[in-house]
Amino acid sequence: MGRRKRMATLSAEAVRRKFLAGFIPGSGLPGAGPRPPEEAWDTVETDQGAYPRLALELWTSRQRQAANLHEISYRACYKPQLPRHFIERLTQPGDRVYDPFSGRGTTILEAALLGRRVAANDVNPLSRMLAEPRLQPPEPAAVAARLQEIPRAGRREGLDLTMFFHPDTEAEIRGLRDWCLDRAAAGTLDTLDTWIRMVATNRLTGHSPGFFSVYTLPPNQALTAEKQLQINAQRQQSPTYRDTHTLIQKKTKQLLAGLEPAQWRHLAEASRDAVFLSGDARRTPSLAAASVALTVTSPPFLDVVDYAGDNWLRCWFAGLDATAIGRGISTPRTVEAWSETMAEVFAELHRVTRPGGFVAFEVGEVRRGQLRLDEVVLPLGLAAGFRAHGVLVNTQTFTKTAHIWGVGNNDKGTNSNRVVLFERS
Ligand SMILES: C[S@@+](CC[C@H](N)C(=O)[O-])C[C@H]1O[C@@H](n2cnc3c(N)ncnc32)[C@H](O)[C@@H]1O
Repeated sequence: MGRRKRMATLSAEAVRRKFLAGFIPGSGLPGAGPRPPEEAWDTVETDQGAYPRLALELWTSRQRQAANLHEISYRACYKPQLPRHFIERLTQPGDRVYDPFSGRGTTILEAALLGRRVAANDVNPLSRMLAEPRLQPPEPAAVAARLQEIPRAGRREGLDLTMFFHPDTEAEIRGLRDWCLDRAAAGTLDTLDTWIRMVATNRLTGHSPGFFSVYTLPPNQALTAEKQLQINAQRQQSPTYRDTHTLIQKKTKQLLAGLEPAQWRHLAEASRDAVFLSGDARRTPSLAAASVALTVTSPPFLDVVDYAGDNWLRCWFAGLDATAIGRGISTPRTVEAWSETMAEVFAELHRVTRPGGFVAFEVGEVRRGQLRLDEVVLPLGLAAGFRAHGVLVNTQTFTKTAHIWGVGNNDKGTNSNRVVLFERS
């Protein structure tokens, strides 16, 4: 398995032709684009045969822009163009699209915008809090009116946040937090509240005046209090006042900018029967068998991202227990352990995928490209009973600042993205 080999023979040509006609460039079907050069192909060998792998700029900057509604930060999220590539080619309006590792909800939001039905799961409940409100976006005027009702102060309960926020900003944050927690406890939390909570969660920390905090990392990588004190000392900074209500309104307008009437309609339709689960991707009994037309997903890759550590402040704001959540998040540290977890995920995906449905499973390169997880994933999907079509690798040169799919090119991140494509027979 995993041996790279040039494809130059006639039989290799036949394999390529079988590789989902119409899905890749050069297939001759409308919209498929020009034929890829020879050197864009190689093969992945498995016990069950060789599978084609195509490395090309498949969905990138040339594509139409994604909706602003996607623009919230989450560790290791991908760009909406990735799921769109598969949703547009492999599903019809009304089909159900699923993501078992939903994160900020990129897959399901893009699917909903395109008129598909959606299902999302993530073991981190923060994921649902970030994704669900964007299926039911409010009018900005309604957000402004609701904010007027929310007190600009709240209960103090021990946690010292003075290294991040000006005292008046912190009071407002506590006011927002208490409002949402109290209304949730009373059963009166509505879609305006959950929208405000989603936006506020994303404005908590960052490095511009658009965020509530003094200069720090973005909200998906919250620093510890100690680290923040160091940054403040190094930069000789202290938090200045930020008007949280004004910033929430500004971000609301940004998220909604450019949303077309058809997209508003599609979102409303999708939200009516959207499924949101907050459990382990290996066990999703409430998702009906054979109910999913397409899964597009990106699992946690070995131990590269500390989701719980990154999200402690967001979890506090949302009233979630980051440590307990961290325990549920899969962070296998060896390829063997990772494979065992993913084998169970594939078995579950096989159950929920309808015959003729697809799974696009995205993995990054880890260990600086020495480990190609697509070659590990291929046999796992085959073992679960799927038919494999091959691997698509989106290639685009990028730098630390201009990175593809929202994945930073840094030591802890991943820096290339590979999608293994399966079909349920
Ligand atoms: C690479 S991220 C997915 C990002 C997503 N594609 C996006 O665009 O936001 C992986 C996600 O898997 C979740 N996760 C980790 N272990 C899990 C498990 N066993 N079951 C379900 N979700 C899990 C993490 O909480 C994280 O949100």
